[in-house]
Amino acid sequence: MARVLITGAESGLGLALLRAYTDAGDSVSVLCRRTSSELTPLAPDMHADVDVTNTAAVYRAAAAMGDAPIDVLINNAGIMIEDDIDRLDIAAARLQFEVNALGPLNVALAFRRRLHIGSRVINISSRLGSISDNESGDDYGYRMSKAAQNMLTSNLAIELGKEGICVVAMHPGIVATEMTGNQGTPADEVAGDLKRTIGGLEMARSGSFLDRFGEEIPW
Ligand SMILES: NC(=O)c1ccc[n+]([C@@H]2O[C@H](COP(=O)([O-])OP(=O)(O)OC[C@H]3O[C@@H](n4cnc5c(N)ncnc54)[C@H](OP(=O)(O)O)[C@@H]3O)[C@@H](O)[C@H]2O)c1
Repeated sequence: MARVLITGAESGLGLALLRAYTDAGDSVSVLCRRTSSELTPLAPDMHADVDVTNTAAVYRAAAAMGDAPIDVLINNAGIMIEDDIDRLDIAAARLQFEVNALGPLNVALAFRRRLHIGSRVINISSRLGSISDNESGDDYGYRMSKAAQNMLTSNLAIELGKEGICVVAMHPGIVATEMTGNQGTPADEVAGDLKRTIGGLEMARSGSFLDRFGEEIPW
């Protein structure tokens, strides 16, 4: 049985990941902003009112959750606010940076003491955060925030790698959630693919950017 921590598990991909792990008999703790009727029975160890941008709230939740080791930490919470060069709202770009890049940093630091040799930290990224894969432009705020998150992954992989902790960025593909107007691959299918790939991760892959099947994506 793995001990798993997932952020933003009240809907979308996070909820599907929660289901995938609990269905497999794993023990899942959840950080979220709000509860839902679906979430409550699935996650007895649920910590609501935790906005990942709120450092104090994240650390309060970490303190309340005790010292049990975490085997898999999934930084899933994220937002996307579409923009382009003619529709650029700096405040929206700043918010995406706060949630998508600084949120995972807050969570990784607050829960670091519970990670151990063999733990995996998964930052749910996006191909849109890849600089070398950018062929279409647009989505300044989202792309920049996920590129910053990718640097967090790279840095953590170096630092936490010294402690035997594997850190990767993962692109889930286009997933049918609120973020995409429910267009894309069903979230449960994506969660199953991610879980399988995460389960097979070896330390040698730490510091890489992977799709949900484990194929490398260029940074
Ligand atoms: N869907 C896709 O095609 C796709 C593609 C590539 C990458 N991704 C990434 O996959 C992850 C999950 O996305 P999704 O498609 O499941 O989106 P979603 O349905 O919009 O769900 C996002 C989740 O993140 C939570 N969240 C947002 N801001 C938060 C904050 N400040 N603090 C705590 N929780 C917060 C939301 O909680 P609330 O309900 O409280 O807002 C929600 O549970 C994101 O990181 C996203 O960037 C998605």
